[in-house]
Amino acid sequence: MGWWTEHAVPRITDLALRGHEVGESRSRACEGLSGRVLEIGFGSGLNLAHLPDGVTGIGAVEPSDVGWSMSRERRARSAVPVDRIGLDGQAIDASEASYDAALCTFTLCTIPDPRAALAEVRRVVRPGGTLHFLEHGLSTDPGVARWQRRLDPLQQRLAGGCHLTRDARALVESAGMRVVTLETGAIPGFTGPAALTYGYLGVAVV
Ligand SMILES: C[S@@+](CC[C@H](N)C(=O)[O-])C[C@H]1O[C@@H](n2cnc3c(N)ncnc32)[C@H](O)[C@@H]1O
Repeated sequence: MGWWTEHAVPRITDLALRGHEVGESRSRACEGLSGRVLEIGFGSGLNLAHLPDGVTGIGAVEPSDVGWSMSRERRARSAVPVDRIGLDGQAIDASEASYDAALCTFTLCTIPDPRAALAEVRRVVRPGGTLHFLEHGLSTDPGVARWQRRLDPLQQRLAGGCHLTRDARALVESAGMRVVTLETGAIPGFTGPAALTYGYLGVAVV
């Protein structure tokens, strides 16, 4: 991993994704979470402030030591205990059905094999538990999608492997989960061209 991806990307990501309006979408993504929650791509801990009271613990999966260090103060302020249980969402060191729910925000775009990560979510979340997701990705507008395909290689280089062309709904469904709520469209608080701002906010049942 180069200096840019290791040191610059986590800081830029934190700055870009910590705004008030994005926070409102985070709150909505976290609505209904309770019990033990697995968070893949924990990053700098920006979801901690949005967890509902019923959450009793977070199992954080995060490969970036820089992101994890940046989350220190947020973890210290949080009433919810956070354990970093692993470094890779594609191979999670947790037993089957050991979590009540999973949370994934702006991460399916970056994990090299999102299908493997979602298979892991399905394995470690108990049947009937939920996956809450907030992701940017492939637009339904063919003109925007064309631009997303063009810009995808550049985005991957600049943003630490982030893709613009992933369809979060299709990925979640292909992992065998049932999407029960979904909103799509421009993510509030995301500034930039439509290729960067199209998003998915949803809940799926495992
Ligand atoms: C755009 S950041 C989003 C961080 C955080 N979820 C948020 O909403 O602010 C993408 C995150 O995915 C993490 N990530 C990359 N590869 C991963 C993997 N294989 N397993 C788990 N997380 C991964 C990155 O380290 C980074 O923290």
